[in-house]
Amino acid sequence: MGKIEVENLTVRYKDGGNTFTALENVSFTVEEGQFAGVIGSSGCGKSTLLSVLGGLRPPSSGRAAINGVTVTGPGPDKGMVFQHYSLFPWMTVLDNVVYGIRQVKKKLAKKDTVRLAESFLEKVGLEGFQRKFPQQLSGGMRQRAAIARSLAMDTGILLMDEPFGAVDARNRTYLQELLLKLWEGANPGEVVVPPDYALPRGKRKTIIFVTHDIDEAILLSDRIIMLSGSPGKVYKDITVPFTRPRNRAALIQTSEYTRLRNELFALFFNDFGGNI
Ligand SMILES: Nc1ncnc2c1ncn2[C@@H]1O[C@H](COP(=O)(O)OP(=O)(O)O)[C@@H](O)[C@H]1O
Ligand SMILES: [Mg+2]
Repeated sequence: MGKIEVENLTVRYKDGGNTFTALENVSFTVEEGQFAGVIGSSGCGKSTLLSVLGGLRPPSSGRAAINGVTVTGPGPDKGMVFQHYSLFPWMTVLDNVVYGIRQVKKKLAKKDTVRLAESFLEKVGLEGFQRKFPQQLSGGMRQRAAIARSLAMDTGILLMDEPFGAVDARNRTYLQELLLKLWEGANPGEVVVPPDYALPRGKRKTIIFVTHDIDEAILLSDRIIMLSGSPGKVYKDITVPFTRPRNRAALIQTSEYTRLRNELFALFFNDFGGNI
């Protein structure tokens, strides 16, 4: 829920005496309830874009807006999963998730908040690790905890920066399915969620999902915004035409999937000038 508009966004970093332009005149609109994938080579400004959308960095010019209101800072309307895990090191994994939920669902009873947190930690395979501190977990486990927190917070907007990048292949596949099911509106099995969690069609979250994995982008997205660097610009904006709910096994066997995948690979390699 929530329309995201990016208008002529330019971000410059001051680096000693030099100025480096990370994003230049980037414009696009993500409609309410759309799942937008963002791909692009390393350093093209994907994380910079998400930090502006999340209100963590002011643009040098242009703006990002949510439901027509310019983003000026972080807030409980936006859930974020960063490329580098963002758990509070002084809180247990469970407390991190509980804290996140409290920021958004202030009226939820404490016992229900804890149950909700526990159910999402179970869902991401961390049931035995709730009382551990982040530094006692592997990188992939920390990332799963951060994902559990963002999903449990159930914000209308979710900004995800390579959320599954540090997660091993098996868990990554599983988390893709979990995110897909939650977003598509299915209540995934045993997750204990408030009745309003599994959103009916038409009331889906608006998600911006950065990845460098083309298959992941196709599986999840309605549309893929490809950035090129540098400075980062919108290079292509590609519709992913597959219906929902999606089934990975069936999807990857279609000729349309192969065609789209080949097209995206070709575009991606073009951006490197054909050289890897
Ligand atoms: N704080 C910073 N100061 C200076 N340059 C930065 C800073 N953060 C990022 N950059 C530069 O901006 C460009 C885009 O970075 P980033 O948004 O992290 O790219 P991506 O996420 O696509 O890999 C890179 O060239 C990076 O080196
Ligand atoms: Mg990045």
